Amino acid sequence: MRKKIIAGNWKMNKTLSDAQSLLIALNEELKTVVLPPDVDVYICPPFPYLEKLQQTLRLLDNTTLKVGAQNCHYEDWGAFTGEVSAAMLKSLDIQRVIIGHSERRQYFNETDEVVKAKTQAALNHQLQVIFCCGENLEQREANKHFQVVAAQLQNALFHLSSEQFAHIIIAYEPVWAIGTGKTATPEQAQEMHTYIRQLLAEKYGTILADETTILYGGSCNAANAHELFANADVDGGLIGGASLKTTDFVAIIKAIAA
Ligand code: PGA
Repeated sequence: MRKKIIAGNWKMNKTLSDAQSLLIALNEELKTVVLPPDVDVYICPPFPYLEKLQQTLRLLDNTTLKVGAQNCHYEDWGAFTGEVSAAMLKSLDIQRVIIGHSERRQYFNETDEVVKAKTQAALNHQLQVIFCCGENLEQREANKHFQVVAAQLQNALFHLSSEQFAHIIIAYEPVWAIGTGKTATPEQAQEMHTYIRQLLAEKYGTILADETTILYGGSCNAANAHELFANADVDGGLIGGASLKTTDFVAIIKAIAA
């Protein structure tokens, strides 16, 4: 059975003390939620807070929360001022990393080649990868969304062996839905997720395709999470804005746990 996942992408938000307060508040709220064993909840804070928040979690009894990173570099070490490598994340005992987020692709010129190299670096250090893909508005309107997503998967992932691919989680995030308040309809999400799973089945076989977690991301919130997660191929969400508010994030977690 594939895992269901809710991952909070905090992006470049919060001071350290606000981040700690949010984590503690979340943990407190989650005590009232019975999480089935197949559900994982992560938060992905900014790099400088990773270690501190891991420490905070270690001090909390029976927490179900886990920490992940938002990005990593494709080299392990060297003269890359300002960058953080997968090797460094691993040394902090971080187990998972988001790669290929559309904001990285858009503002930091990350091409499929770069995303491929980053994914490889993360896998080399046994990190689990939340691999983001998704079309922009122009591509959706031109009816090219399937083609775009297929190319992103093909270019950055499909060289991986089945063994390596088993560490990949896909996050379908239509760019037009990220931070815009415009969510994909449950039908649009299900349609793309089914398509992605078909591509995975063609490439890696149905067993691995069925075991791969495919998340939806893009203005997922407390009001629409239920409907989105009700779809057979939507295995949870990558949550931006709503992961910064305890009540909203917990409502989304409850929607997957229901
Ligand atoms: P959003 O962001 O939920 O704020 O739309 C999602 C994401 O960027 O992962």
